[in-house]
Parts: sequence; C-alpha cells; structure tokens
Amino acid sequence: IAARLGPRPLAGRSVLVTSGPTHEPIDPVRYIANRSSGAQGTAIAAALAALGARVRFVTGPAEVAPPAGVEVIRVQTAREMLEAARAALPADAAVMAAAVADWRVANASGSKMKKDGSGRAPALDFAENPDILREISAPGPARPGLVIGFAAETDEVVAHATAKRLRKGCDWILANDVSPATGIMGGTENAVTLITADGAETWPRLAKDEVARRLAQRIAEAIAAG
Ligand code: CTP
Ligand code: CA
Repeated sequence: IAARLGPRPLAGRSVLVTSGPTHEPIDPVRYIANRSSGAQGTAIAAALAALGARVRFVTGPAEVAPPAGVEVIRVQTAREMLEAARAALPADAAVMAAAVADWRVANASGSKMKKDGSGRAPALDFAENPDILREISAPGPARPGLVIGFAAETDEVVAHATAKRLRKGCDWILANDVSPATGIMGGTENAVTLITADGAETWPRLAKDEVARRLAQRIAEAIAAG
C-alpha cells in the first residue's frame, strides 16, 4: 500500500496533533499536571510531517522539544488547548495525544499562597476540564474526517478503550497499558492496540517512533480510501 500511495501520501492534507501535559495553575508558582513527556505525540507529528502533511502541533509544556517542520502552538491549560485545537481546524485528521489534566483548580489564587503559620494546609477545589477529544469529535461542519484519541489504562485495556471510543465519539483509539509493570510510562517503547469500529488490533511492542510511523501510514491509507 505504501508503494501505491507514494512517499508523501499526505501532501496537501492538514492534521491537528495535541501533545504533552497541560498545567493547571494553583497559584502563580504552582500547578497540577499529568505525567507526560510528550514523546509519543511529538513522534506522531514528525511522522505525519514526513508523509507530507501540514501539521498543527498544539502542545502543553512537554519535556521533549517539538519536531521540525510543524506549526507549533504552545499552551498551558486544558481550556487554552481546546481553544487552540478549535482554531487549528479545519483539518483532514486529528490525533489527540495530549495527557490533559481532567481537573483544574477552581479556586486558583492570583497571588502566591503563603503558609499562615497555623500548620493547616490550604484546601483546593477542583472543576472538571473540557474534554477536548469529545469536543473535536462532535458532529458538525468543522469535524475532521478522522479523529483519533488515546486511552492510557491500567487494566482491562481493550474493554475500557472500546467504551471510551464510543463515549468520546472519535473514530479510532490507540490504547496502551500503562501499568507500572509494563515499564511503558516514561520509556522509549509503547505497546498499543488500535481500536476502530471494526475491532481491536494489537501491535507488537515497538519504539515510540515506530508506533508513530505505523499510525501515520494508517492515517494516510484511511484518508486515501476516503
Ligand atoms: N482527552 C482530552 N481532553 C480531556 C481529557 C482527555 O482531549 N479533558 C483526550 C486525551 O488526549 C486522549 C483521550 O481523551 O486522547 C483519552 O484520555 P483519558 O484520560 O484516557 O480519558 P478520560 O475521558 O479522561 O477518562 P479517564 O477517567 O479514564 O481519565
Ligand atoms: Ca483523563
């Protein structure tokens, strides 16, 4: 199929990729966040660009640098990421690889919180963040033709991810097992299962770069097939 599509099958196509964690402020010097190096999202953006796509890369504060050859839009919070993702449309496909904080601090302070000497810790109130994947997957004229989400799970990976695909309204989910025993979190390899409307396909454990290349190729095939 690669031979039939040629070396740059995504030339003239645009793809949105979200990546990295979001940082949700507690006060000007503190935040809450998910663990995410941004490595998998960065590799996917690079692989899509290598196939000729115009990539808009919306990234939170990640450890790894964004790839060359993509348009980088830097954000901090989930709400900023949603706004930037919407502004990056229309797109032929969207890959939502960000580890978005599920909650933000509702009572974040505009000035640095100080210990008051009483020994009592402050209480944080949380509010749920918007679900960027679900918003981008919602039917409408701006919806990309192919929306792909991730599901990092620690047990019953396929069952949870299959339910998540339906709940979010996206087309594909790349599910991975992030149980500590797998050593996936923070590592250079990933073991994923691609879940589509047709079922689940487990890929061998591969370098994150190779997972990205396979996914980019599958995206190119799906777009070519219409
Ligand atoms: N996601 C998103 N916006 C959020 C939360 C998640 O876009 N506020 C996206 C992630 O980028 C990922 C997918 O949704 O592609 C699944 O994220 P995950 O955290 O596994 O899903 P949740 O719906 O937050 O479920 P859970 O309670 O298991 O964390
Ligand atoms: Ca979550």
